[in-house]
Amino acid sequence: MAKKISDKVTWVGKTDWELKKFHGDEFTTVSGSSYNSYLIQDEKNVLIDTAWLPYDKEFVANLKQEINLQKIDYIIINHGEVDHSGSLPELMREIPDTPIYCTANGIKSIKGQYHKDWNFIPVKTGDTLNIGESTLTFIEAPMLHWPDTMFTYMDKENILFSNDGFGQHMASEHLYADEVDQDILYAEAIKYYANILALFSMMVKKKVNEILAMNLNIDMICPSHGLIWRKDPTQIVEKYLEWAENYQENQITIIYDTMWNDTRKMAEAIAKGINEKDKNVTIKLMNTAKDDKTDVLTEVFKSKMILVGSPTVNNGYLYSIAGILEMIKGMKLKNKKAAAFGSYGWSGEAVKLITEELKQSGFEIINEGIRTMWTPDKEKTKECIEFGKNLC
Ligand code: FEO
Repeated sequence: MAKKISDKVTWVGKTDWELKKFHGDEFTTVSGSSYNSYLIQDEKNVLIDTAWLPYDKEFVANLKQEINLQKIDYIIINHGEVDHSGSLPELMREIPDTPIYCTANGIKSIKGQYHKDWNFIPVKTGDTLNIGESTLTFIEAPMLHWPDTMFTYMDKENILFSNDGFGQHMASEHLYADEVDQDILYAEAIKYYANILALFSMMVKKKVNEILAMNLNIDMICPSHGLIWRKDPTQIVEKYLEWAENYQENQITIIYDTMWNDTRKMAEAIAKGINEKDKNVTIKLMNTAKDDKTDVLTEVFKSKMILVGSPTVNNGYLYSIAGILEMIKGMKLKNKKAAAFGSYGWSGEAVKLITEELKQSGFEIINEGIRTMWTPDKEKTKECIEFGKNLC
């Protein structure tokens, strides 16, 4: 249901309570999400972004309740990914000649997905569109998180439509960030950053600083997922600058998989050693075969050090560890330390292989890791505890 958010702007998006997987199976969205679309009604009427393809009919039907579609003068697509452009084909069946403003890369992405030669108008940073009392300014934001991404700024009402930037995968009966539990909000916001934007931190930093240098008056930041930032809206901008700067908390995350609990016992003994040496460090133990991978990546992002453990199996390591190592590599994290551990029965290559993988992923390797042959006995458990103490 549409909701007015300012004098001229109405939220016309879709809240998706049942979304639990996003990007295929890549991202787990336990809190659901929303596809925020905004209708600006000035002398000209503008639609910013649409909703994900499965909701296209519902989206267009709801939009018709707000406006006669023929009266939409311009469509702005800030980013062509299907969760924002997916309702375009349904909409364009009704208003096929309406100009679509997007970046040059946006045109490629939309044409590539829908194979339609709609009336595209390419825009660049600084281009403007006067719509009556207000003027819209386009700001390209490549790789936040696709090459085509841009933001749109509306003056007079001082709204930054930031698309994926500053979003959260979070369905809510509320529309504004200040109306929900702040711990949950920020847990979702950092999860979103860690899993979608961490890789592009350099670009995030550059773009955020560029926007701050523009000295825009910002009363609201309207992302395309989750809650709208209304109260102290630049709080999330400041958080992004912090997260983009090789972010770490005083946390060590121990991620492992285990066949017969021997590697788990090692993980727990190492954690005990860390805790005995440094009570201030937060320790998280996560079994990659049981814990959610999106949560694991979030904890890795927050950590100053990670320890990765697996038993040796078929001269390698377990597949859940292989999967998570591949995802961690993709984050291109900097300024984090790591070491490996694991049990084995005979060949015992896993620790060396994990260490090599962590090195390739940009971690500073603290030591050659620790191995246990068969089940850790009292002596070996003590050795793991010492290993943990020495990490501090
Ligand atoms: Fe929310 Fe990159 O799409």
